[in-house]
Amino acid sequence: MNRLERRRILVTGAGSGIGRATVLRLLSEGAVVVGAGRSAEGLALTRKQAAEAGIDAGLTTLEMNVADETEVIAGVGSAVETLGGLDALVNAAGILRAGHTHETSLELWNQILSVNLTGTFLVIREALPTLLANSRSTIVNFSSTSASFAHPYMAAYAASKGGIQSLTHTLALEYGKQGLRAVSLAPGGIKSGITDATPGYLPKDSDWSLFGRLAPIVPPDNPKELAGPENVAGVIAMLVSDDGRFISGTEIRIDGATHT
Ligand SMILES: NC(=O)c1ccc[n+]([C@@H]2O[C@H](COP(=O)([O-])OP(=O)(O)OC[C@H]3O[C@@H](n4cnc5c(N)ncnc54)[C@H](O)[C@@H]3O)[C@@H](O)[C@H]2O)c1
Repeated sequence: MNRLERRRILVTGAGSGIGRATVLRLLSEGAVVVGAGRSAEGLALTRKQAAEAGIDAGLTTLEMNVADETEVIAGVGSAVETLGGLDALVNAAGILRAGHTHETSLELWNQILSVNLTGTFLVIREALPTLLANSRSTIVNFSSTSASFAHPYMAAYAASKGGIQSLTHTLALEYGKQGLRAVSLAPGGIKSGITDATPGYLPKDSDWSLFGRLAPIVPPDNPKELAGPENVAGVIAMLVSDDGRFISGTEIRIDGATHT
């Protein structure tokens, strides 16, 4: 089923994890995609995997630091030119760092906010005029369960993801009459770069009793199973397709009922 036939989509964070899985899924459903990322090697691997799957004809990759306004202006402009417009934007770029809040430097706080929240804003701002040229368009942003459910030692990350939810609600109202839908995804633990790296960032003296339930309770056949990036990518494909046309101004939690 090519429900995304010729749909023009920009995906950030395309050089690994959920962003890469999203690029591959969107291509497999017929979209034309610009995958933007920070790491040239990561983007090369995304292109390689698309080629191996025989779906690389519609893929262009682009190096772009979302926290750098000049790079975002140039990068989004180049993506729009390559695609000849833009129907959807997926903001998957993000970083996670952790630590005791009272030991968090202003520099680290600003770094996390500038990539996750300001970076998401900058890409959206640059993409909006082109998205709004269509009668229908979609923005998918990345929040996290940490935005609504307390996760210790992640104050800056959680604040950035809460900000993304608020930003998304505003977009959905402000531009809804122009056909724009805006949705946040709130994944729990997904097998990917960020999850793999998290234990390395947590304080050595972390109090694990503060984490509550960490594992999903569904699917029940394999209690230790974490969702993979492809599970999130499938939800994104639905959201940017007409199947998602009544979903806007909300969060979709993908955590296997971890926080239920
Ligand atoms: N993996 C999880 O469990 C989980 C849970 C909740 C939310 N998320 C969110 O999902 C999104 C994707 O994360 P992931 O799990 O695939 O992790 P990941 O580390 O594999 O992917 C993040 C990507 O963002 C890119 N990136 C980082 N800083 C950037 C910058 N300044 N400019 C451009 N790109 C930059 C990285 O190079 C990487 O490719 C993130 O926003 C993350 O916060 C992930």
